[in-house]
Amino acid sequence: MCLGIEGTAHTFGVGIFDGEKILSNVKDAYVPKKGSGIHPAEAAEHHRNVAKRVFDEALEKAGMTIKEVDYIAYSKGPGLPPCLKAVADFVKILPEKGIIEVNHPVAHIEIAKFITGAKDPVVIYVSGGNTQIIAYAAGRYRVFGETGDIPIGNAIDVFIREADGRQPGGPVLEDLAELSEKNYIELPYVVKGMDLSFSGIVTAALSKYKKDKKQLNNLCFSFQETCYAMLTEVTERAMAHTGKTELLLTGGVAASKRLREMLSIMAQERGGRAFFCPLEYCGDNGTMIGVAGYLAAKSGQKPVKKSQVDFNSKWRVDEVEVLWV
Ligand code: ATP
Ligand code: FE2
Repeated sequence: MCLGIEGTAHTFGVGIFDGEKILSNVKDAYVPKKGSGIHPAEAAEHHRNVAKRVFDEALEKAGMTIKEVDYIAYSKGPGLPPCLKAVADFVKILPEKGIIEVNHPVAHIEIAKFITGAKDPVVIYVSGGNTQIIAYAAGRYRVFGETGDIPIGNAIDVFIREADGRQPGGPVLEDLAELSEKNYIELPYVVKGMDLSFSGIVTAALSKYKKDKKQLNNLCFSFQETCYAMLTEVTERAMAHTGKTELLLTGGVAASKRLREMLSIMAQERGGRAFFCPLEYCGDNGTMIGVAGYLAAKSGQKPVKKSQVDFNSKWRVDEVEVLWV
């Protein structure tokens, strides 16, 4: 029985996993003040305020007490240092259990695999804070491609915030693109080797928008086509290189219908299969930490003592030894 605690950025979440079933998944997200991005100290304060209630609710929903929990897994990083510290401090005041350190992106991958049944996929992890194409090879989740500047979700949010004002940007971008005449307006397509870049697209799209505001819908369409084609190209190359036949999409941007469609077509053309993580488990949540913690504990990852609980805001996914795959 593994209880997972997440809190690397906006969301504080607690979830419980028994090795077969998800017993609960409770979360509470910090919402930044209108018009601004995440304020790390405020987000951490939010986590400290809601932690106990979210924790109690997760146990209650699972119909159990902390006595029945074998392991407490927590997100050690990467993430915003004040938020990570709030999580670590909370873990230290909980009853003594085997404490399992979990890497946040590893947890995104494991819950997406668990829920969809994908076995050995190329993972496209796309959110406001991350853009990575990841696949398992020789004991680790290796990063085959990633953004060299800003993450895709952040690019979408910045573009829409400037051009439209609404947030988060993803659903707005999608709606406006759907309303467009689907006239493609040239935007910089930047794939270098396996790496992607989105900041030039934002700059170009905004400058074209300022010259002709009537083109916003077509720009949204073109923004989607360009960014998602780049992601699809790099994913296809990772599949070809590794010989893997499955792809698995997760992270907040996985909500995009057009990205799903492009990836589906590509997988189909290669005779492969596309898996999409359901949205409830695409964003940050405690259950994903519980699932990854369970797998790690079961495969022999050593629990740490309360006095050793700390955080690592720059902990990369490929630094983790994956013992359970
Ligand atoms: P992480 O900490 O894992 O980076 P996050 O804090 O960015 O996560 P998520 O909920 O995973 O949060 O992702 C939010 C992002 O998803 C936002 O940038 C949002 O605009 C984007 N998004 C949401 N819906 C869509 C959509 N339909 N199309 C494209 N992007 C979307
Ligand atoms: Fe995340």
